[in-house]
Amino acid sequence: MALFKREPAQRQAQVDFSRLPRHIAIIMDGNGRWAKRRGLPRTAGHAAGAENFRTIATYCKEIGIEYLTVYAFSTENWKRPAEEVSAIMGLLKKYLLEAIGRMERDRVKMRFFGDLTALDQELQDLCRRTEEISRRYEGCQVDICLNYGGRDELLQAARALARDCVAGELDPGALTEADLERHLFSAGVPDPDLVIRPSGEIRLSNFLLWQAAYAEFYFTDVLWPDFSKEELHRALAAYQSRSRRFGGV
Ligand code: FPP
Repeated sequence: MALFKREPAQRQAQVDFSRLPRHIAIIMDGNGRWAKRRGLPRTAGHAAGAENFRTIATYCKEIGIEYLTVYAFSTENWKRPAEEVSAIMGLLKKYLLEAIGRMERDRVKMRFFGDLTALDQELQDLCRRTEEISRRYEGCQVDICLNYGGRDELLQAARALARDCVAGELDPGALTEADLERHLFSAGVPDPDLVIRPSGEIRLSNFLLWQAAYAEFYFTDVLWPDFSKEELHRALAAYQSRSRRFGGV
């Protein structure tokens, strides 16, 4: 059993790296409060959050996590002040441009879940280019939820199924979970084993509503920009201490 070795000065989580979750999903919350505590504008919190995303995504690849899904912008986040929305979009562009530049080094496969048509053309193009270039990489697949909502995803799937039924391709009375899953952004991706939400909020906020049915949840007060590798180890150790029964005994 491979155990994570304790570092001095802090109680370190013991992680068994041979029993990692296949798929981790993270709600990257707390950027605004992180900035406020430092007397900085909220956008500085998002910039720190984006930087931390890079650190955690790279680390997940390093330790062998197969799938990482992160919530970057929800269908409800458009309600934020226009300047904040535009700052987040600007950060995403900057991040993707940098990611494309260092892709050969990081070799992280990236995809996007959500209705990208609502984003400006430049950002849509960057998302598509990132997906295209990183398609051939092996290892961790990072799915970034952008203009994503779990209800919206299910509604789109319901519409698609209804169309298939009207076209006579599917029998409404015989629809299966697999039929619906084929229409989710996450088609082909296993359900998340572990959903992490930093920042002290204890809710799902429309994230992966279908997919998280049997996920283990890990909540912490730590704000996303401070969610370090060590915090991830704590989440992994908590996950490994749970008994997953999927409705069985
Ligand atoms: C939630 O914190 C964070 C967001 C709505 C935006 C997340 C965006 C990023 C981390 C930047 C770009 C992402 C990538 C993938 C490069 P909050 O603003 O709700 O924090 P608060 O609850 O403390 O106000």
